[in-house]
Amino acid sequence: MFVSTLSLLALLGLISARTLATHKEDRRNDGWFGYRNVGYFTNWGIYDPQNFYVTNITTQDLTHINYAFANVDATNGTVFLDDPEVDIEYEYPGDNVDEKGNNLYGNLKQLYLLKKQNRRLKTLLSIGGATYSINFVNVIEPEWRETFINSSIEVLNNYGFDGLDVDFGKLGPVNKDPEAETEQGVAFTELLKGLREGLDQAAKKNGGGYYELTAAVGCGVFGWGGLDVSGMDKYLDFWNLMAYDFSGEWTPTALPASNLYHDPNPANDQYASGSECVQHYASEGVNSRKLVLGMPLYGTAFNGTQGLWTKWTDLGGGDYDQAGNYDDKHLPLEGAVMFYNKSLGASWSFDNSTGHVVSFDTPTVALQKAKYVMKNQLGGMMYWSIDQDYTKLQSNGKPNGRIWPGVWNKLKGTSKKYNYGKWKGAPWPLPDYIKNRQRRSEIVNNIESSELQLSKRGNNFGNWKNWAGWGEWEDPKQWKLKLDDNICTNIGFSLIDTVKTAFEKYGGGLDKTKNNLKYPNSVYDNIRSGLR
Ligand SMILES: *[C@@H]1O[C@H](CO)[C@@H](O)[C@H](O)[C@H]1NC(C)=O
Ligand SMILES: *[C@@H]1O[C@H](CO)[C@@H](O)[C@H](O)[C@H]1NC(C)=O
Ligand SMILES: *[C@@H]1O[C@H](CO)[C@@H](O)[C@H](O)[C@H]1NC(C)=O
Ligand SMILES: *[C@@H]1O[C@H](CO)[C@@H](O)[C@H](O)[C@H]1NC(C)=O
Ligand SMILES: *[C@@H]1O[C@H](CO)[C@@H](O)[C@H](O)[C@H]1NC(C)=O
Ligand SMILES: *[C@@H]1O[C@H](CO)[C@@H](O)[C@H](O)[C@H]1NC(C)=O
Repeated sequence: MFVSTLSLLALLGLISARTLATHKEDRRNDGWFGYRNVGYFTNWGIYDPQNFYVTNITTQDLTHINYAFANVDATNGTVFLDDPEVDIEYEYPGDNVDEKGNNLYGNLKQLYLLKKQNRRLKTLLSIGGATYSINFVNVIEPEWRETFINSSIEVLNNYGFDGLDVDFGKLGPVNKDPEAETEQGVAFTELLKGLREGLDQAAKKNGGGYYELTAAVGCGVFGWGGLDVSGMDKYLDFWNLMAYDFSGEWTPTALPASNLYHDPNPANDQYASGSECVQHYASEGVNSRKLVLGMPLYGTAFNGTQGLWTKWTDLGGGDYDQAGNYDDKHLPLEGAVMFYNKSLGASWSFDNSTGHVVSFDTPTVALQKAKYVMKNQLGGMMYWSIDQDYTKLQSNGKPNGRIWPGVWNKLKGTSKKYNYGKWKGAPWPLPDYIKNRQRRSEIVNNIESSELQLSKRGNNFGNWKNWAGWGEWEDPKQWKLKLDDNICTNIGFSLIDTVKTAFEKYGGGLDKTKNNLKYPNSVYDNIRSGLR
């Protein structure tokens, strides 16, 4: 059953560009606005040890910030903030909680400030997620749904969001109770229908504009089983495809966790991959422009292996006491060697001395995925979660994730003259962590000097194993994109920015539709007045 479905999907994969391009309808009916770059911000990320605040977000790289997560009461359907202290009370620099009136503070005030500074940036409240989606259990009750709709729109109005992102997850494993699952799936569509109506009414009451409604959905039959995809699609502006977590504790061997293409070896196939996920939702009738491909900004680790595809003994280390889970910005671990397999669209690190494997997307894979998104006319890229990306460098507000033009100009034609490992001549001082990054890169790639590795056509990536190179395309007539010298795929650079740069250079850029700033029905004085 799995095998036949997969061969069908593989077949679809061969004609992906054509199939996907035929779904023309967009529910807003006014065409294509540009690529979305959607980043999840976790409200728990502001605590130690992450310390990633709203003010740490590189807003110019994103079109959407999904604020994760709001909770919902399982019994009565009320949507509520899960940590008011950080969401709406925490004092950021510049806040004065003693000022007059009933005012909003915390992360959500800062999000509103970011929206003012960058009118392209939309903020969506993400409801549910892995931990809270169990609380959707009563979605089958009409009154529960009505309370959900009313309360979530109240939250949107009070805190100044531009829309809602529903992370329903799954309630029961596939095949356990298919009937209950179908019932929930249908009820979930009803919930989205009510939300869409409610959001349109709210926009009218707020003097116009448009609030977006999105859902985050899984890949593979465990992710999409039971969902009424074509029903849901009528109400959604776009879909966040969670194209990650394909391997983990439950896979007996160490496998890639976010590969773009499926593994033809049945023993290694996780029955999920980014492209198959896209194919599935497209085959259910979703306009390709509404499919936003999700990319993890974390690594999935296995220890005690003989390399990828072999048995593991434990999950091995991990950040913040999460076994087997590392932020990208801490990868690769020292001593590991990088691998890249282009036909899988996957990268990983391996330390032969300990057997430690970490599956994570390098900027090279990010660029490959960006190209896939553009080639197949998808809606953009989504990231879980933005605090895990290689830390932004912008002490001067300068962009990150590509070669700085000044450096590039100096480097061109004179590559040996500059010792970029020490960053002499860099236009501003680099923080320690990026200096360490360069050192690690040196070990990883075993290159002579720690000179930046530039992505040139016919690239040379030092000792990368399984390097397939860039530049060749399946059908060059259909697809003109070439890797540009100015996009840097050196490990240590922001994946979000790498993708954004590719969208800008080759895809016409990011969605520029404006956010909403008017919330006349907010209970907060400062939000009602637009933080004047
Ligand atoms: C967040 O920004 C603050 C202030 O600029 C900085 O001190 C801190 O290191 C940043 N945190 C991260 C995780 O980048
Ligand atoms: C509904 O749930 C919310 C959130 O848990 C709670 O604050 C509220 O009291 C509940 N309302 C009723 C009527 O039970
Ligand atoms: C939801 O809001 C509508 C419109 O304000 C109201 O008529 C309805 O009673 C509310 N439903 C619930 C369950 O709160
Ligand atoms: C992997 O296992 C080896 C052998 O037990 C151990 O030395 C090493 O510290 C482990 N690595 C990680 C990252 O946990
Ligand atoms: C690990 O290193 C040993 C010794 O150098 C070598 O024989 C073996 O093939 C390596 N294994 C892998 C999976 O690279
Ligand atoms: C890439 O992975 C595929 C699927 O496992 C495998 O068949 C192929 O040999 C790998 N390519 C290289 C260069 O290792």
